[in-house]
Amino acid sequence: MRAYLHDGDLFAITENEDLVGVLLAIRADDTVEIKNLAVVPARRGAGIGRAAIEALAERASSEGVTRLIVGTANSSLDNLRFYQRCGFRFAGVRRGFFDSYPEPIVESGVRARDLVILDRHL
Ligand SMILES: CC(C)(COP(=O)(O)OP(=O)(O)OC[C@H]1O[C@@H](n2cnc3c(N)ncnc32)[C@H](O)[C@@H]1OP(=O)(O)O)[C@@H](O)C(=O)NCCC(=O)NCCS
Repeated sequence: MRAYLHDGDLFAITENEDLVGVLLAIRADDTVEIKNLAVVPARRGAGIGRAAIEALAERASSEGVTRLIVGTANSSLDNLRFYQRCGFRFAGVRRGFFDSYPEPIVESGVRARDLVILDRHL
């Protein structure tokens, strides 16, 4: 995350002044890419991630952005579900994106190999 911090906007997600998550987004032309979204484990499943996406969509739209995009591994089944629940659709696949990683990543018994790009038009 550190490598691209300077290029984007890092948002703190707060609830009653407590930090409950972070969102890192990078704008390029008329698109905003979500580079990272994380909610603290104790507060997941409570609508915070969805609210963060909606806040980002509203802000981006008001600044002339027409599309949100996010990339996630084929093995990140929870993320694939989450983003589709938030209105994103599959937009492309970068096959073999994770093949050069030194250690294989396995989630839910599925090996990460391809980067799935999802987008949502605003
Ligand atoms: C993915 C993440 C940001 C979602 O945030 P959240 O606050 O837990 O999500 P919400 O409560 O707003 O959930 C929105 C929808 O996604 C679903 N969802 C969220 N997390 C889910 C999970 N782990 N498994 C299944 N469904 C999930 C919810 O059920 C909800 O759907 P609903 O409309 O049916 O209720 C959060 O779980 C997280 O921080 N995960 C770990 C970090 C990560 O992998 N980030 C993605 C990298 S970009």
